[in-house]
Amino acid sequence: MDFNLTNDQLEIKDLAMKFAKNEMMPKASEFDEKATMPLDILRKAWELGLVNTCIPAEYGGNGFTAIDSMIITEALAYGCMGMNTSIMANDLALLPIVIGGNDEQKKRFLTPFTQDYKIAAFCLTEPGNGSDAGGIKTLIKEDGDDVVINGNKMWITNAGYADLFVLYGTTDPALKHKGITAVVIEKGTPGIEVGKKEDKMGHRCSDTRAVTFNNVRVPKKNILGGLNQGWKIAMKTLDHSRPMVASSAVGGAQCAFDHAVKYAKERVQFNVPIANHQAIQFMIADMAMKIEASRLLVHKAAWLLDNNLPNTQLASYSKAFAADSCMQIATDAVQIYGGYGYSKEYPVEKIMRDAKLIQLYEGTSQIQRLVIAKEIFTR
Ligand code: CAA
Repeated sequence: MDFNLTNDQLEIKDLAMKFAKNEMMPKASEFDEKATMPLDILRKAWELGLVNTCIPAEYGGNGFTAIDSMIITEALAYGCMGMNTSIMANDLALLPIVIGGNDEQKKRFLTPFTQDYKIAAFCLTEPGNGSDAGGIKTLIKEDGDDVVINGNKMWITNAGYADLFVLYGTTDPALKHKGITAVVIEKGTPGIEVGKKEDKMGHRCSDTRAVTFNNVRVPKKNILGGLNQGWKIAMKTLDHSRPMVASSAVGGAQCAFDHAVKYAKERVQFNVPIANHQAIQFMIADMAMKIEASRLLVHKAAWLLDNNLPNTQLASYSKAFAADSCMQIATDAVQIYGGYGYSKEYPVEKIMRDAKLIQLYEGTSQIQRLVIAKEIFTR
């Protein structure tokens, strides 16, 4: 067993960390306040090769392993969890094409993302179906060489800027997960109606909207894996993307931790730095343990992916543990800062708001436990 990163991985980590500290961190609070997507920063990240890490080399990508992409994600989330959400949502939307697309679809849809900075959106959740993804209602009806799509999607990251939507619908809601179909829809296709930007607690610079699909006509050649084959693609996508979300939790938690340690050494109370007080030391020790344990779970989940081994259980371990840990660590960082931590002038306030979303998206912490229990009892 080797816990060392390779030289290439150390280089990628260094590049992503420098980008996070020099380009993302200085602007994180401004974009949080403005609640607008930092397109220039995102494009710069793309120019450095830090976006769309899931695209295989044969379609123009950098040929990153899953572990490489976790290293990048952790570093970018250290810079700003909200900006990283916009970046990570591209992978979430492109992964179904990597996993379920044929060669022609991969060339047609993935390669343009390696030639210019483009934005993608993953459309699974609906107003009435979030955790119960198998119950989605968006209808996909065959019509000659096309399919026609009607339905409403909700909480769609990147929706306002998306060049491409990967949508999940059903050919028949009675079939539940066995009717789910995944289809790629390009920007400009008539009938796509993007809603207003949601005013969120955290990740405020990431763009989240409802999207309505009204008689959207798409050629059958845009269906991934065939009609009614979308569910397995969605689940396999989440097996890959959940460790990425977990990795972003590690990055956010590490950032909160670093701030808290620095502050604890500087802040003097009762004539000594508060770092000398055991109450603070215990909090710092718990934070450090949880970060390391989260990172190890992420890397194990990614290692399984890189070795083509089932990783559903580990993906959910990493997502639930890292998200819950990140929330706790960010809350404790605010606690260590005391009243100052509650002020927007200090960075831990934003990290605490950002941490909350990690426990919600791509399967809540409760859904991860449900997946883990199902794996233990039934599979
Ligand atoms: N890989 C392959 N197959 C899988 C699988 C996996 N990881 N997980 C389940 N399956 C298969 C099962 O084997 C089963 O197959 P059979 O029909 O052959 O038996 C089938 O899928 C149904 O499985 P379940 O009985 O477990 O399905 P369920 O409906 O009871 O529960 C769920 C499924 C795990 C709860 C699922 O609905 C789920 O993950 N929900 C959460 C949804 C989610 O994460 N949404 C995130 C949206 S993305 C996001 O947040 C967007 C953003 O922009 C930030």
